[in-house]
Amino acid sequence: MNRESKNSLAEVLPTHTPSLFRAAVIRAAELLRAGELVALPTETVYGLAANALDARAVEKIFQAKGRPQHNPIIVHVASIEMARRCVADWPTLAEKLAVAFWPGPLTLVLPRSREIPDAVTAGGETVGVRWPSHPFIQAVIRECSFPLAAPSANPSNQISPTSADHVRAMLGEKIQLIVDGGLSNVGIESTVLDLTPRPPRVLRPGMIHAESLIAVIGELAAASGQNDEGKLRSPGLLRKHYSPRAQLRILNWRDEADLDSQLSTLNAQPNQTHIIAHTCILLGEKFPHVSVIPHDAEAFARAIYAELHRCDEAGAKLIVVEALPEGIEWRAIADRLRRAAID
Ligand code: TXA
Ligand code: MG
Repeated sequence: MNRESKNSLAEVLPTHTPSLFRAAVIRAAELLRAGELVALPTETVYGLAANALDARAVEKIFQAKGRPQHNPIIVHVASIEMARRCVADWPTLAEKLAVAFWPGPLTLVLPRSREIPDAVTAGGETVGVRWPSHPFIQAVIRECSFPLAAPSANPSNQISPTSADHVRAMLGEKIQLIVDGGLSNVGIESTVLDLTPRPPRVLRPGMIHAESLIAVIGELAAASGQNDEGKLRSPGLLRKHYSPRAQLRILNWRDEADLDSQLSTLNAQPNQTHIIAHTCILLGEKFPHVSVIPHDAEAFARAIYAELHRCDEAGAKLIVVEALPEGIEWRAIADRLRRAAID
């Protein structure tokens, strides 16, 4: 993606030396204090941040993303004490989970405190809180001394960004500042755990998987996106989500001929088809665009969104991802790909 793209309003600040890091923290905090939006790196994906205590600033997030008003936003903190100020109740389970997994890719949904405006919770009585591990967003939160509301920094329903360039390509015309903190280390969005029901329930799977949560809290409700009335508990669980522009299919194949015959009904030319493989790697004779992500769940999670962004940029009509292995460490990635594959 081209950093000099003409339509970009956004300034992109680097952070790779201590003085650049410090200067970017000061600039980001200045804009956030003034009620503006700033795109910031986190270890999961880049976030589009605003002062979580300023309803007007949070409204700007909905506008910039084209986000439906009913979708609540995660609040990012830089200490357990700050998390406790965002919630009405801090149960022992929350303390145990925070000690085990924070800072890190786990969001806890708890009853909201009065300080958190309706714009953040979408009018609901709960708030999602997360202490991210990326040092840059931590430094900005400390500098501001207020929590940051931040959804992923992409237009609603598109793939989350895992680099500053992704943000610039998708939102560069809508925001003033993007901070470049390198490639996101986790690569997919946090696990969202609702602590308000007993037992707690995973609303969105992530790289902190159910078995790790159970090891700390003992019990989890069976995964489901529906509450008793059949209403969505978490709008992020809408079936279609996180999609590339190209059509996406998840398939297994023996070789190029086998894949070719499976694709014959899909009406995509081989040169407009991009293949993402991890195990059965094609030689690129029939299909010229083949990329490989290592057969390792963490490496795969780190790389998959960047691959999908790249395929879209290259004008792919169809993206074929090799079906993922079984195993708990692959479940959250499989969840994202399943949603991306819905037409
Ligand atoms: O890793 C992440 O969580 C990233 C980084 C930036 O922290 N953020 C992120 O935010 O993915 P977003 O808005 O793209 O996704 C947040 C998900 C949505 O599915 C939303 O519906 C759900 O969390 N969520 C947020 N607050 C909630 C609440 N109070 N109750 C239920 N679901 C909530
Ligand atoms: Mg998102």
